[in-house]
This record gives sequence, structure tokens and C-alpha cells, in this order.
Amino acid sequence: MSVKFPDVKDLFEAKSVAVIGASASPGKIGYKLIENIKEDGYKGKLYPVNPKGGEVCGYTIYPTIADIPGEVDIAVVTVPAKNTYDTVVECAQKGVKFLPIITSGFAETGNVAEERRILGLAREAGMRILGPNIFGYFSATASLNATFGPRGIRHGKLAIVTQSGALGIAMVGKSTVEHLGLSAIVSIGNKCDLDEADLLEYFQDQDETKVILLYVEGVQKGERFIEVLKKTTMKKPVVVIKSGRSTRGAMAAASHTGSLAGSDTVFDAIMTQCGVLRAETLKESFNWCRFLAEAPEPQGENAVIITNGGGVGVMATDASEKYGVNLYDDQAKLKEYFAPVTPDFGSTKNPVDITGQAGGKEYSQAIAAALTSPDIHAVMALYCETALFTVDTLSKMICETYTQYKLGQKPIVYSIIGGEAIEACTTSLRPNQAPVWEDVYEAVSCIGALYRWHRYRNQKVQPSADIQMNWKRIEEVIQSARADGRTFLLPHESSVVMAEAGISMPKSGIARSSAEAVAMAKDIGLPVVMKIVSKDIIHKSDAGGVLVNIETEEAVAKAYDTIMANAFKYKADAKIDGIEVNEMIKAKTEVIVGARRDGSFGPTVMFGLGGIYVEVLKDVVFRAWPINKEEARKMVLEIRAHKLMTGARGEKPRDIETIVDTILRLGSLIKNVPAITDMELNPVVVYEEGKGAKALDVRILITEK
Ligand code: COA
Repeated sequence: MSVKFPDVKDLFEAKSVAVIGASASPGKIGYKLIENIKEDGYKGKLYPVNPKGGEVCGYTIYPTIADIPGEVDIAVVTVPAKNTYDTVVECAQKGVKFLPIITSGFAETGNVAEERRILGLAREAGMRILGPNIFGYFSATASLNATFGPRGIRHGKLAIVTQSGALGIAMVGKSTVEHLGLSAIVSIGNKCDLDEADLLEYFQDQDETKVILLYVEGVQKGERFIEVLKKTTMKKPVVVIKSGRSTRGAMAAASHTGSLAGSDTVFDAIMTQCGVLRAETLKESFNWCRFLAEAPEPQGENAVIITNGGGVGVMATDASEKYGVNLYDDQAKLKEYFAPVTPDFGSTKNPVDITGQAGGKEYSQAIAAALTSPDIHAVMALYCETALFTVDTLSKMICETYTQYKLGQKPIVYSIIGGEAIEACTTSLRPNQAPVWEDVYEAVSCIGALYRWHRYRNQKVQPSADIQMNWKRIEEVIQSARADGRTFLLPHESSVVMAEAGISMPKSGIARSSAEAVAMAKDIGLPVVMKIVSKDIIHKSDAGGVLVNIETEEAVAKAYDTIMANAFKYKADAKIDGIEVNEMIKAKTEVIVGARRDGSFGPTVMFGLGGIYVEVLKDVVFRAWPINKEEARKMVLEIRAHKLMTGARGEKPRDIETIVDTILRLGSLIKNVPAITDMELNPVVVYEEGKGAKALDVRILITEK
């Protein structure tokens, strides 16, 4: 009989909660939980459990969970690690649905076996585990603060999922100070069962949650994570903070949670691909969440800056470029809308400068003009402190215009700069959720985040392109390499895979005598390149095993003998399979196309500037597979040197469509042939538009079995 698992909804709408290890000692976590659940107004039934019995915070303590008279939806476990398994057995017997396990001392300290044993038991019993190694969770729906963090959590629209416990607890406090209400906060710790994807699936359709913040250290089931993220960001904005950006940071994160932080570049690329907003700092993430929880989605791309100072206007212009906010540029329309509310010595160009003499009335008029103008879709209002405003008039103006903008479905941000009075104004406006910042960049970055999400949500999604090939033939090549004890393919084997994949390579063959080499060269067409083929000689050039630009038949025969002699001199006992005779390709634009199976995210594809400097320049971009043609095209145009592809210095554009096709073919290969772990085509020589591309060197790595 298959086991039935409870719906994640029941975790957040729990009707009854037991705390196993509830303690009457106020210093203990088992006490703090009872106190928090009680004081924060949990609506359901609360059952403390401890063999000692007695009373805590006015509740009777049950000696065992079996003694509880009613059903128990949730059992929060706060007993030491050594007692946890037995506790879980009792919870299974009681029919508990969810087990948030606060207890530390499992996978994060190397005690993986015990964590697996507990998970196995929970799976058999149809229970789901949150954690272990967590600070608990909070649900506004049930008014349930099952954490040992701060009390008095403000209810609101932000759901936080955090892998770090301590940081999560700090976020609870910070959200209160920032007047940022929470719909939920969930600590997932070692995430042995419930993970980010499970929670995102729930929050994406939960009405109270308008924006989701994830704090991630490492991703384990990356392919599912990507799938769920793509769906979630179509409905709600998701902001992510990931530690482990630096190499040292990644090491610290790995030892912290017992999970390996994936390569940051890949993570970053995949978040963008999934429409996730990656914040650099905690402050930035909170700024975005606060704004996104309330802001209406823009109806178009035209943003306008309204300012009383030229300097801040220019700063906001720079910030708009940085954060991808499009400034409206129709001068005639701008004049029509703003001339009636701008003094003659001001400017109706964007930034609209209503000058230092503007007071509350002038600001309100200019902001109202932008609201009623159909071609303007978002506003950034900047104010530098002058004597023409009092704190009260400024606060009033902001409150009124902000409310009007919400009703009018247009996003607006304010940046107000000045001394004590301005600070007082910002503080007084925070509880109203008004989008006010002192720093111009902070305000503009919020609008930028909104636009990035909006654009992602509104893009046309084409089906992804999985290309069919003769998988059986490819598997045969891999089997024969394995039979030879190798985890990589030799050039002629890679050539077969490329031919099956429909990726062009220079014409070539393997000669086993100089006469054969000459015949091949004639067939391929002179000039040719000749290379040694031997699994014992990896660095062919160092061994004198590569000769290029061989122009005559005599030279081909001579080159054959020279390469053989060099190879034996380099390694007398090398097993030589022959000499590869290749079409000589004139170097054009050189790119790299690759695909690899990422430890966290599964199949990924890569494109970049190729050749020998690829490691130095690192001008490469990644995507998780699958992608469609449009996304592959975006990759080609995303590298820093993209102008080499579109036609730099009067050159004709390169054949981008062939590269797009090559990326899609490598993606299909890595997805459908699990034995392949890495593929790298470098360089791929790209010709002019319509003339194709050829992969000069192909490296394919395979698994042992
Ligand atoms: N059933 C019910 N109660 C039990 C029990 C069982 N099987 N076994 C022990 N208990 C009781 C104990 O008697 C004690 O109650 P008491 O205060 O009345 O004596 C209570 O559970 C707690 O056990 P104790 O041995 O006192 O442990 P503790 O409170 O010092 O620590 C943990 C327990 C779970 C908090 C601790 O082991 C731990 O893991 N701490 C780290 C938590 C953490 O940081 N998590 C990650 C946050 S991000």
C-alpha cells in the first residue's frame, strides 16, 4: 500500500501542535517554544510533552505524546539528538503529520546515518520532516510562532525560507524593525525532507504571501528547484540571497550546513534564467521585498524621474542605467505633461527638474501629472532638503501621492535626502509601507527589481528544443571507450558523437601509414593539419605531435614520419593508434560551447569567447537545460564580447544561428546521454552569417560505469 503524505498547507494551517521536550525551565528552548506559541496567539491546541509531567505557561504537560487526548498535526521536537529517533517512533504511532525537528547534531556534524534513519521512519509513516537543525517556523495564517526566536512577529505579505538558523532569527527581528510583515518564516536547516521547492510550491498559491525571500547556502535537488522556481516567479516575485559567492565563503557554507555550495557563476545564471531577483546584501533584499510586497506591476517601460535638484537627478539617471530602468525619452510628450507644473528655469526633460523652489504643492502637481499621463508607467521622485518643506508637508505629500499611485496602478519610489528632519520623516513613513529611501540608488534599485521581474513574467515562452539523435550509436561509442578503461573519448570517437549530433567538424581521418595519410590529405584537400592519436599522449603539442599548414603531398608523407619519431622520443612505450589528418581551418571568430552535468543543477550549457584565453577572459555564460532557441540566442548576445558575433569594426555578423543550434544540440546530448559528464567544443570557428561553424577540438568526458 502506498504511503499518503500530508499537504504542506497543513503545516501552515495546523490545528494542533505538540512540543516534545517542552520544559518548565525558562532558559531552555523547550520552554521558549511554548511561551512563543502561547504569547503570539496560536489559534489551535497546544500540547507540551515531557516524561516529567507538570505544567508550563499554564498548560498541562503530557508524559508522552500517546497520552494526548486529541489528534496532533505538528510535533515540534526539542529533545537531544540521541532521543530523537525514539520520539519520532512515538510520533508515527500517534499519526502526526509534520515534524519540525529543532535538534542539532545530525548531517551538519557528520551524523548522516542517524538523519537518514529518522527520515526513513518518517517516510514509512507518511510524516514529513522540517529540518533537522532549525529554529522552527512561523505561520501568520495560524498565528503560530513555533520558533525560539523573537516574539510579536508582525503579520504581513513576505514569506521567508532560510537555510541559516541564526540569520533567520535575526531576519525575524529585522523584519519587525523594518515594519515588514511576514506571512511565514521557515527554517529548513539540513532540509533532509522538506526543502525550498516544497515550500515555494505552497507559497506561490497562498493568498497572504505577495513576495518570497530565500536565503540559500547550497542547492541539492537543483533540477526540481529550477522547475518550481520558474512556476513561482510567473506568479510572485522571488528574491534570493546566497552566501558562498567567494571561494572562501563557499567553503564556509559547505561546512556549515553539510551541503556543497554550487559554483556561484552557474547559480547566478540559473537564478536570472528562472526570473529570480538575486540580492547582494541583506539590506538590498529587505528593500526589494518591502517594495515588491506592495507595488503594482508597471503597465509599460517608461519611467520618469521628478527632482528638485540636478545632481540627484543625474545620480538617479546613472542608477537607472545600472538597474535596467528605461527612462522615458519623448521630449514633446514630456513637455506637454510637465511644462504646466515646471518653472521656466526648470527642465521638462527626463529627469524632470521642478527646481529648488518646489514645495509640497509643486511636487504633488508634478507627480499627479505623471500619474495621469498614459505614456508614463513608473516614477522616481527625488527630494533634496530645502527650507520650503516642513516634515509634515513632506510626509503628507508622500502619503497622498503614494496612495494615489497605488489606486492608479503605477509604481512610485521616493528618495529624500537631508538632515535630521528628513530622517524623522523617513522613520515616520515606514509603518505606512511608503517606499521611501534616503539613498537614490536604493530607491532606483527597487524599481529596477520590479522591472526585471515584470519583464520575466511577460516574456513569450517558447517550448524548449530537445533534438533527437541516434542515442544507441552514441552509447556504443561510450561503451567501447569504457571497455578500453577510459573516462574520456579519443578524437575519432568524439568525431562520431559530433557527427551523430549533427555538429560540423573539420574533415578528418586516421592514417596508419604515410601512404594512407597522403591519400587522406588528397581527399580532404590541402593544406592539412596532422595530429598524433594516442591515449598515452594527452598534451599533443608538447610531444611534437601536431603539425599545421602542411601544403604538399610530399610534406604530408614527411610529417607522418616526423610526428611518429617525435612521439616515440617523447614516450617510447606510448600506444599509438595512428595520425589524424585534418582539414586546415583558417581562424575566424573563435568561441567555446560546452555542456556539463552540474552537481547541484543537473544538465547545463555554456557559451563564451573561445580559444586559448578562455580561462583568462572568463567571458562565458551558463544556463540550466532545457532552454529554447530564444534563450540560446540570448546567451550568445550576453557575453561581454558579443560584438564579435554581431559584427565588430565593420565586419559581417557571424553565423549566430549555427551557434544557437550547436548549444541546443549539446544540451540535448547531455540531457539524453547520462554517461556524458562534460563536453567542451573549443575552439569553434564561426564563419559569416549563413556559412556555419566548425568545432576544431572536442573534449568529451564520461562516467566510469
Ligand atoms: N520526550 C520528551 N521529553 C524529553 C525526552 C523525550 N524522549 N527526552 C528528553 N526530554 C526532555 C528533557 O527532560 C528536558 O526537559 P527538562 O528541562 O524538564 O529536564 C527537555 O526534553 C530538553 O532536554 P535536555 O536534555 O535538557 O536538552 P536541552 O534543552 O539542553 O537541549 C536541544 C535540547 C534539542 C535544544 C539541543 O539538543 C539542541 O539540539 N540544541 C541546538 C538547537 C539548535 O541550535 N537548532 C538549530 C537552530 S538554527
